[in-house]
Amino acid sequence: MTKAQSNTMWGGRFDEKPDDIMEQINASIDIDKRLYKQDIAGSKAHAAMLAAQGIISDEDKAAIHKGLDQILGEIESGAFEFRRDLEDIHMNIESRLKELIGDAAGRLHTARSRNDQVATDFRLWVREACDAICERIEVFQETIDILEEQHADTIMPGFTHLQVAQPVTLARHLEAYACMLNRDKLRFIDCKDRLNKSPLGCAALAGTGFPIDREMTAKELGFDRPVNNTMDGVSARDFANEFLFCCAQAGLHLSRLAEEIILWSTPQFGFVSLSDAWSTGSSIMPQKKNPDAAELIRGKTGRLTGNLVQLMTVMKALPLTYNKDLQEDKEPVFDSFDTIILCLDAMNGMVASANWNTDKMLAAAQSGYSTATELADWLVRELGMPFRDAHHITGRVVKIAVTMGLRLDQLSLDDLQSVEPRITEGIFDYLSVETAVKMRK
Ligand code: ARG
Repeated sequence: MTKAQSNTMWGGRFDEKPDDIMEQINASIDIDKRLYKQDIAGSKAHAAMLAAQGIISDEDKAAIHKGLDQILGEIESGAFEFRRDLEDIHMNIESRLKELIGDAAGRLHTARSRNDQVATDFRLWVREACDAICERIEVFQETIDILEEQHADTIMPGFTHLQVAQPVTLARHLEAYACMLNRDKLRFIDCKDRLNKSPLGCAALAGTGFPIDREMTAKELGFDRPVNNTMDGVSARDFANEFLFCCAQAGLHLSRLAEEIILWSTPQFGFVSLSDAWSTGSSIMPQKKNPDAAELIRGKTGRLTGNLVQLMTVMKALPLTYNKDLQEDKEPVFDSFDTIILCLDAMNGMVASANWNTDKMLAAAQSGYSTATELADWLVRELGMPFRDAHHITGRVVKIAVTMGLRLDQLSLDDLQSVEPRITEGIFDYLSVETAVKMRK
């Protein structure tokens, strides 16, 4: 970063240059340079509108467009020099434009403020982020779809209180996550739809006296329409909070799955073995194979929730309209985006390459008396017993099985009839986990 003597963008009334630490706290370029593409698109739309309205000449508009295209190339090739003394992405680009095209650059900011400029850039960025996340969710949903097909008949225990409850299939268990992910996706789509209004033309806060055409810039940038209120337009960040919530919620769902994978990959469960590519070793215990990616997905929920809380707290008591606190809005949003993309990709890679130990799952389903509910239901259906009585009788049968160290389907008819003499041979169609699962298709 080089240092200018005074700020060329707003230093007119200033005699002294900013203190170094003032510059450090004020500058956002290290963070908001990620908005360069949106900033250039916004400026091009604004310049085109200014020319169409006769506010700037067509020659100036052409020079501005050409200069901005060159800057886009410079940034993408890494040739652009970002300067901290120019504070942020908006002033870095405008300053470079002045170097390239001279005075015409100064006309670009007519009828515009950085306040509506940054609000526009940021909405455009979050809109694209929503699309990118939805695409990654879909990739993982396809992985789950494939597993659901492969494991439609793979029996495993379903849990409540982390105790074996009733037999289910692995497909059904994974489908639950597909449902969560689908809602996550709908939330991002909804967030994107709601934010898609253009703040460009709100200027600093009160709009502008220039005869601008907000519909034109809104349309050019793919917004549905301009925002209704200029003061709301420059100061609203609920779209960013909403995006952060969407990320936090999706991360939370991934964290629940991560937790199950961590449990299931222990030798005690043994339901799943992670591939070497998705495991790590221990530097001291040679026997270990650790599910670090799953643990990190679980752990990163902390920062996703933290980012949401951060921006909510920044916004909580801000008076209308723009306050520099708002500059703190981008870091959590960029971080949550990077984090959720990484978590989705890691979860997808880990799950797609995992080995499912179907024998272990079946054995676990068989060992936990998971068909006890089937026995109770049979007593209700076949003997007309009230469910509460059937529940009690079944409890006594389970107790016998526990004492004898047998599964329910290994008990003899005599054992069963010692508790309830009216039980018949037909009960054995219901006591195995296979039949219990089929009953519930
Ligand atoms: N870098 C600023 C931000 O991100 C741009 C807007 C500055 N506006 C102002 N009135 N100082 O919020």
